[in-house]
Amino acid sequence: MTTWSLRRRPSRTLGLLLLVILSFLVLRRLDWSTLIPPWLRHRQLGLQAKGQNFMLEDSTFWIFGGSIHYFRVPKEYWRDRLLKMRACGLNTLTTYVPWNLHEPERGKFNFSGNLDLEAFILMAAEIGLWVILRPGPYICSEIDLGGLPSWLLQDPSMKLRTTYKGFTEAVDLYFDHLMSRVVPLQYKHGGPIIAVQVENEYGSYNKDPAYMPYIKKALENRGIIELLFTSDNKDGLMKGVVQGVLATINLQSQNELQLLTTFLLSVQGIQPKMVTEYWTGWFDSWGGPHNILDSSEVLETVSAIIDAGSSINLYMFHGGTNFGFINGAMHFHEYKSDVTSYDYDAVLTEAGDYTAKYSKLRDFFGSFSGAPLPPPPELLPKMSYEPVMPSFYLSLWDALKYMGEPIKSENPINMENLPVNDGNGQAFGYILYETTITTSGILSGVAYDRGQVFVNTVSVGFLDYKTTKITIPLIQGYTVLRILVENRGRVNYGNNIDDQRKGLIGNLYLNNSPLKNFRIYSLDMKKNFFQRLDINKWDTLPQTPTYPAFFLGGLSVGLSPLDTFLKMEGWEKGVVFINGQNLGRYWNIGPQETLYLPGVWLKKGINQVIIFEEMTAGPVVQSTDTPHLGRNQYVH
Ligand SMILES: *[C@@H]1O[C@H](CO)[C@@H](O)[C@H](O)[C@H]1NC(C)=O
Repeated sequence: MTTWSLRRRPSRTLGLLLLVILSFLVLRRLDWSTLIPPWLRHRQLGLQAKGQNFMLEDSTFWIFGGSIHYFRVPKEYWRDRLLKMRACGLNTLTTYVPWNLHEPERGKFNFSGNLDLEAFILMAAEIGLWVILRPGPYICSEIDLGGLPSWLLQDPSMKLRTTYKGFTEAVDLYFDHLMSRVVPLQYKHGGPIIAVQVENEYGSYNKDPAYMPYIKKALENRGIIELLFTSDNKDGLMKGVVQGVLATINLQSQNELQLLTTFLLSVQGIQPKMVTEYWTGWFDSWGGPHNILDSSEVLETVSAIIDAGSSINLYMFHGGTNFGFINGAMHFHEYKSDVTSYDYDAVLTEAGDYTAKYSKLRDFFGSFSGAPLPPPPELLPKMSYEPVMPSFYLSLWDALKYMGEPIKSENPINMENLPVNDGNGQAFGYILYETTITTSGILSGVAYDRGQVFVNTVSVGFLDYKTTKITIPLIQGYTVLRILVENRGRVNYGNNIDDQRKGLIGNLYLNNSPLKNFRIYSLDMKKNFFQRLDINKWDTLPQTPTYPAFFLGGLSVGLSPLDTFLKMEGWEKGVVFINGQNLGRYWNIGPQETLYLPGVWLKKGINQVIIFEEMTAGPVVQSTDTPHLGRNQYVH
């Protein structure tokens, strides 16, 4: 009885439902395809170049893209930033994929947490954005070594971005892994990925003519079936072009627009035009200004690009932050490393807030949209918390005893070749080299990027790009010579990426004889580094601390945690960690004065703040609700 009624009822509902669907179909003249969800209909052609237009399946398509790098935005905020992108009238998300973060050790892959690329791509799809993937393997992107893993540099003959066997073997293994994840997310398989870039700005590097065809094949052999394209800036346009791949350009100034109309035409005939990177702002380097670009100029250029019949991607739509030690550097005449903030003066700020560019571009892109744009999400509130007063302290010299046995080596070893992390070397952070000396004199050697030299615990100067010799003052008996070397970020753009080994490079000489018998500490300052420093290992703050040192304090948060900015006034140079998260470097030479602290990394109650200060501590760490990125200067 019961069984019967249980079985009858659903089938009666089912019958009714079928009747409704059938009558609906009869009314719609039996178009059975309406039963297939719209996102699975007509998925044969994908994005194509047809004459001067892009076509997505059967319709003309304009790419209105914007770049957000998932690795520069806390995962909890991805949705907020993507909704803001959609509400600005853009239809496509573009992102780079950083190999160095995804494969921190050879063959050990990480695609979880903030590196969950698939979740990011699927979220974009859910929000109504197509995706253009820029998998490198080299991505530039103002990230350490342009996104290439530092363990590649263990090989003394490494030739990055070429068909050198040691490089292609590593790329092959990485692509095997990466592509198996992204292949199912391609458009023709029902996903949002409509195009994939072949390497990145190779024309301006161009050391091996066989390399780009190799990367193209590496993508295709692993099942990449969507439109392939290259993108190059004006330094490499001519040389970046690859047979059978759509060439696109990167630019900022309206003066370069003729590249779109004449140059692209001359290299590939009539093809759809695309500016893959229209630079909405620019990145900043330590010691320089905060670069900005006027919002009216941005609007004018964007509109001129579209008027020229070109699709566009805004690089960056939202820059985010170089959390940790991931920032890159430039080294043309002088080594200059990039600051922690990747605000970029982009369309959204570093903390995801709206700018004048946002409202202007929203009006502009909105005018192309058939339907009204979705409303922009509400602002995430910001907060000034009570200042953090560090109450505990641990000098670096005292901390060393908790770091385990140092590596012992006859000669100095550079960072990438240190026997740590299962033979993968050290990627980021600091290294301390120690040896014993018995005489004063002239110390010489190469320390990248900056080595602070100590006689026992007294700082006597720096070895860096400019200074390769310093005087060691008169000493008595046996003395410990220490050099604390910081990797400030490997070069991400230029011809010298093969020479980016860090730490002491080659021998260190005292009065021209090489020093021997080193003790080497790998100070990567990863999470497990601080786990060794439990609370009873810290001292109360002394009157005159010995530097470098760690400072420990608490940031008190009531109710729900909100975004804030830490103002490092009075502090000289170092790194800040909140609840084990590395917020990045600060340096009083500026331009950046505040570090972005995402509210999602805070908890209600007391939050642990650790500051590693190299030179001089400030009295407190202030918290403010507004970022200070330094003195503005318009980019030319
Ligand atoms: C993977 O990366 C995420 C994001 O950086 C990190 O939180 C996590 O600890 C990493 N996982 C492993 C096993 O290292």
